[in-house]
Amino acid sequence: MNFDIIRCGRAVLHVTDLDRSRAFYEALGFIETESDEENLFLRGLEEHNHHSLWLKKRSEPVTEVISYKVRTDADLDELESFYKKQGQDVKWMEVGSQKALGRSLRVMDVASMPVEYYAEMETVERLLQRYDLYKGAKVQRIDHFNCMVSNVEQAHNYYIDELGFACSEYTAGEEEKIWAAWLHRKPSVHDVAFMNGPGPRLHHVGFWLKDPMSLIDGCDVLASMGYGPNIERGPGRHGLSNAFFLYLRDPDGHRIELYNGDYLTSDPDFKPIRWDLNDPMRQTFWGHEAPDSWFEEASEVLDVHSGKKQSLEEPLLKKRKPNFVI
Ligand SMILES: [Fe+2]
Repeated sequence: MNFDIIRCGRAVLHVTDLDRSRAFYEALGFIETESDEENLFLRGLEEHNHHSLWLKKRSEPVTEVISYKVRTDADLDELESFYKKQGQDVKWMEVGSQKALGRSLRVMDVASMPVEYYAEMETVERLLQRYDLYKGAKVQRIDHFNCMVSNVEQAHNYYIDELGFACSEYTAGEEEKIWAAWLHRKPSVHDVAFMNGPGPRLHHVGFWLKDPMSLIDGCDVLASMGYGPNIERGPGRHGLSNAFFLYLRDPDGHRIELYNGDYLTSDPDFKPIRWDLNDPMRQTFWGHEAPDSWFEEASEVLDVHSGKKQSLEEPLLKKRKPNFVI
């Protein structure tokens, strides 16, 4: 392949009430880079790019696109050729059509997720050492997307063989078929995970925190502000990825993960770690069960070409969740 995808870069989510969203995300410790009547651009303290989360005011909550940063502008042309050779339509978003972003290329990926590639985003002040601005969970940077899709094995193979991702960990389900996969370009556990379920849907966007205590601080601040019901799952430790995690539902139901504790995956001889779907330590190392909502609910996504919601396909593997009971 003649292109170089660097990392997951940003998510564009539609929300119904920007003020309500602003209050929630500011409580978590996001930094507001810029906003107007219809848009709110947020970033983490460590981030030097304009935003990693763009919330757009619209009539219903949905995922518009998930975006990956590529190394150079020329990589976008290479990606266009690559997708066209595969017989797929692409959509160029020209310079000026999106705040703070150079031109970008949007496609529907192999799992029918709306995906975007860009090389350039405006840089802004990096606030890592502005400790005076730290609050809530002190969100540092975007880490990954998690997508619920109908055919995980197909997405796993395509992202590795065609797009150059590597697998850090995976879950095997029925007949050794891949039920979930964690894939990376940057040297962490993942930039994107795919999970078996009715899809395509965005399950969550993961943001990295500096330490587990920041996650606990986030819980305390959210609860004290009346956001206790928005805490869906955790805090806990995933067996898979070793992540110390917390799952939150934002005011529109979009799921955000606060995340810390994964590890280096840059070595070429690193071998993917296999987990059995029914291993209770896989999903929660300490053994407690996830709520059903975590397996069943996710954000619907838009088609990048039609702008309409993608219809859902039933998953290839029947099992929607692990079958152990604790
Ligand atoms: Fe995650």
